[in-house]
Amino acid sequence: MNNKTVFLLALATAGAALPLSNMLGFSGENKPISVVSGSSERFAKVSQIFQNKCVDCHSPGMTRMPIYAKFPIAKQLMAKDIENASDRLVLSQPLYSGETPFTPLMLARLESVVKHKSMPPALYLSMHWTDNLSTEEQQQILDWISEERAKSPLSVDSATNLKNEPVQPLPLKVDLNAEKVAVGHKLFHDTLLSGDNTLSCASCHDLNKGGTVQAKVATGINGQQGPINSPTVYNAMYNIVQFWDGRAKDLQEQAAGPVANPGEMGAKWDDVVEKLKHVPDYQITFKKLYPEQGLTQTTVTDAIATFEKSLITPNSIFDQYLRGNATILTADEKAGYDLFKENCTSCHVGVTLGGLSFEKMGVKKDYFKLRGGQLTEVDNGRFNVTKLEKDRHFFKVPVLRNVELTSPYFHDGSVAKLEDAVRIMAKVQRDKEFTSDEVNKVVAFLKTLTGKYQEN
Ligand code: HEC
Ligand code: HEC
Ligand code: HEC
Repeated sequence: MNNKTVFLLALATAGAALPLSNMLGFSGENKPISVVSGSSERFAKVSQIFQNKCVDCHSPGMTRMPIYAKFPIAKQLMAKDIENASDRLVLSQPLYSGETPFTPLMLARLESVVKHKSMPPALYLSMHWTDNLSTEEQQQILDWISEERAKSPLSVDSATNLKNEPVQPLPLKVDLNAEKVAVGHKLFHDTLLSGDNTLSCASCHDLNKGGTVQAKVATGINGQQGPINSPTVYNAMYNIVQFWDGRAKDLQEQAAGPVANPGEMGAKWDDVVEKLKHVPDYQITFKKLYPEQGLTQTTVTDAIATFEKSLITPNSIFDQYLRGNATILTADEKAGYDLFKENCTSCHVGVTLGGLSFEKMGVKKDYFKLRGGQLTEVDNGRFNVTKLEKDRHFFKVPVLRNVELTSPYFHDGSVAKLEDAVRIMAKVQRDKEFTSDEVNKVVAFLKTLTGKYQEN
């Protein structure tokens, strides 16, 4: 029995058949909060549902504790449960009062648990059964999610009837300083950025090969085999942070990494800056674009990052569908998308179908056991950055745009075929055995995500 089960049982026995909301009562500053003016009537109802049935676990610091939470064991376990719940979703007062908007990720996670009626947790409901979401409440939350998504600036390009999709089309164009993009493009392909002048960024991120090089792991200078698979650079600007473990906060910080990494480009930034300064073209361009600083590590990485922001791949078949071409998807592709929405969008969500959160590799089944072989340091994922046990085996969710081109898959590059990656995902993340037919349909859908890089 794990801690969670123990806790839920403790709740169940101590709480008898009383619904949580009845037992708690509200006192003093814990009166139900009404929503801020301007919120919709629908949200007002949803807010009450959250306050009655969800905040006790999802709003750390809330003082609304049931009586039994005073008992030593219940108290400890409740704290653990609140911690686990809050890792996934914090329903803070600014959120449920309508002061601040819910993010696309929160909406996707909510949609998933509400659709599957998996919250509040089943064991807890076995006693607090009146805290179950009624079908009407379930529908109210889903309708409100739809209303929120339609308001999002991300869905401006979506057809009116498709504004509630968990995925939005990539913009056709992004506004950037064209000269910075041009010099960034040149730097991205320049081997002067490596210690022995043999490697450029493009050596591991080939723009003609989906922004990767179809290798299990990256090969650095002197033929050194790296520990981890190279993700694509296309659409990376939408990632909340960069790298599988999120150790770089943005593209500019990221770009400084591989140059100085002894296993990758193996250079020293001071030397790289000196080498680049000897190229008259760069001298002139950097003086013009960055008159104050000229050519420095900061301006070089800024130019590369600006170029990377131009690496979007719009106008895929799926985006044409989202923009309103209702007949462009085949029946299989459409069925694949439905399966994907049923099983995958709590993590693979947003314009790039990923990049918005860290998730455990193996929520339902132990992926590493299935894979076999030794655990490596990079298998720790996010843990390597935070050193928190709860982050072990968590990875930034990879983007799925152009995924048919970016084989092999996963951080360890251990899976060559997209079909196998989909089958493994269904198993380890959702505890489902997809039939070959289901796998093929999801793959057919994923292939509609291949877009086109228009140099701009
Ligand atoms: C008894 C405590 C408890 C209550 C009450 C509760 N939750 Fe949770 N919730 C949890 C825990 C624990 C987790 C994290 C582990 C898990 O996903 O099972 C969680 C996870 C979640 C997640 C994240 C799912 C994901 O993608 O990881 C969402 C969304 C969520 N809850 C929504 C709700 C909503 C909406 C309600 C009210 C209708 C609610 N919860 C009520 C304990 C609770
Ligand atoms: C030797 C091969 C190699 C070279 C050269 C290289 N990269 Fe990478 N790149 C990788 C690998 C491997 C990762 C993943 C590392 C990790 O997450 O720990 C990565 C990650 C990235 C990411 C993060 C993407 C994401 O989804 O998190 C970006 C952006 C990126 N590289 C851009 C660049 C740029 C810009 C350069 C040149 C300055 C460059 N890379 C040079 C191999 C390389
Ligand atoms: C709980 C969150 C979660 C769910 C649900 C989920 N994924 Fe993933 N997905 C991830 C994470 C995290 C990774 C990266 C894992 C790694 O590399 O170790 C990933 C990786 C992938 C990859 C490999 C991409 C690449 O470039 O390496 C594919 C393909 C994929 N998922 C498809 C799916 C499909 C299809 C579903 C639904 C059946 C699904 N995922 C459900 C979190 C999730």
